[in-house]
Amino acid sequence: MNAPDNPTICILGCGGFIGSHLLGRLLSDSSCRVCGIDLTSAKIAGYLSHDRFEFVELNVHDTVAVREYVSRADIVISLVALCNPSLYTTIPLDVIDINFTRPLELVRMCAEMGKWLIHFSTSEVYGRTVSSFMPEESRGTVDESRYVLNEDTSPLVMGPIKAQRWCYASAKQLLERVMFAYAFEKDLEYTIVRPFNFIGPRMDFIPGVDGEGTPRVLACFMEALLKHKPIQLVDGGKNRRCFTYVDDAVDAVMAILNHAEAAKGRIFNVGNPENETTIAGLAETMIALYRELCPECEEVEVEQVSGRAFYGPGYEDSDRRVPDITKARERLGWEPCTALEPALRATMSHYIREYREACAYGKAG
Ligand code: UGA
Repeated sequence: MNAPDNPTICILGCGGFIGSHLLGRLLSDSSCRVCGIDLTSAKIAGYLSHDRFEFVELNVHDTVAVREYVSRADIVISLVALCNPSLYTTIPLDVIDINFTRPLELVRMCAEMGKWLIHFSTSEVYGRTVSSFMPEESRGTVDESRYVLNEDTSPLVMGPIKAQRWCYASAKQLLERVMFAYAFEKDLEYTIVRPFNFIGPRMDFIPGVDGEGTPRVLACFMEALLKHKPIQLVDGGKNRRCFTYVDDAVDAVMAILNHAEAAKGRIFNVGNPENETTIAGLAETMIALYRELCPECEEVEVEQVSGRAFYGPGYEDSDRRVPDITKARERLGWEPCTALEPALRATMSHYIREYREACAYGKAG
């Protein structure tokens, strides 16, 4: 890791999905000290007594306290987000607050105190693909390269204001612009990560067991499988995603930390272009894997649902987003290496282990 040799890293959102995996790796593969800030430590309970880790139970709204921890750190990693599409159309003000207003304070702090800020943005900043404006029948004829999204050249295309789905992407995009402006005018040292659909153990809650509402697609499908309910395919399941295993994502963060000079002042797509699938394809693969992992379980059906019925008015979707990862390959020497099936197998095995019993009791939930 670049200067200082044993840095102190302050991770905001350390207790979440990505934070829990990153923390494990930092404690095992580096000699840095970590100060982890979050509201809960349930996912990182195994690390609480580690001598290089300090957990701080704190709401990031408490800027005075956050400032104190940031001032003691050499590097700040910001993972705090409301990143579940069902929230974008139901509590857009909170989505904008958590994804823009609060981290804006952090950006200002890091600029003022001269801290390197590694910020997790989103692949959603790319919005819709340009081809989504073309008539459906001609989309198949689009040059494939149009779907490959580059950090520095691809347009960022949002839908209309009434389509509230884009409030998250717009908030994240504006924060990226603010960071760029702070770097331009005030010498902020920053690196932006744009994650492409990370998956892995501990990613989302199962409704009725450890959370309420609608999680992201993988947990929705797991809930259906575990509770023997139909899998719901939104708008035919034709949209595509490049699912990226969390271990590969953590490799990318470690590569950023180890190549500080190559990473500063840059945006990196972190995604696995080889793992692209339609959502209908994801459902099929998960059903087949579940049959193998739990041979005694009943088969589930797949039912169709419109985006409006599933998420409410204001929902729109990205049809396809494939990351161009040339920059991360060349500057960081990073390469994602987990194919979709092993990534799903590891993630699903975790969900089965953690939730099967609770779901069996609450089948009707
Ligand atoms: C997500 C979120 O916005 C962010 O968490 C994140 O920044 C970003 O993607 C990312 O990880 O790159 P999205 O991929 O649309 O957005 O969210 P998912 O809930 O994972 O949905 C993927 C697709 O599955 C969508 O087309 C959705 O309509 C569909 N879906 C979802 C279903 O067909 N059935 C379901 O039960 C749930």
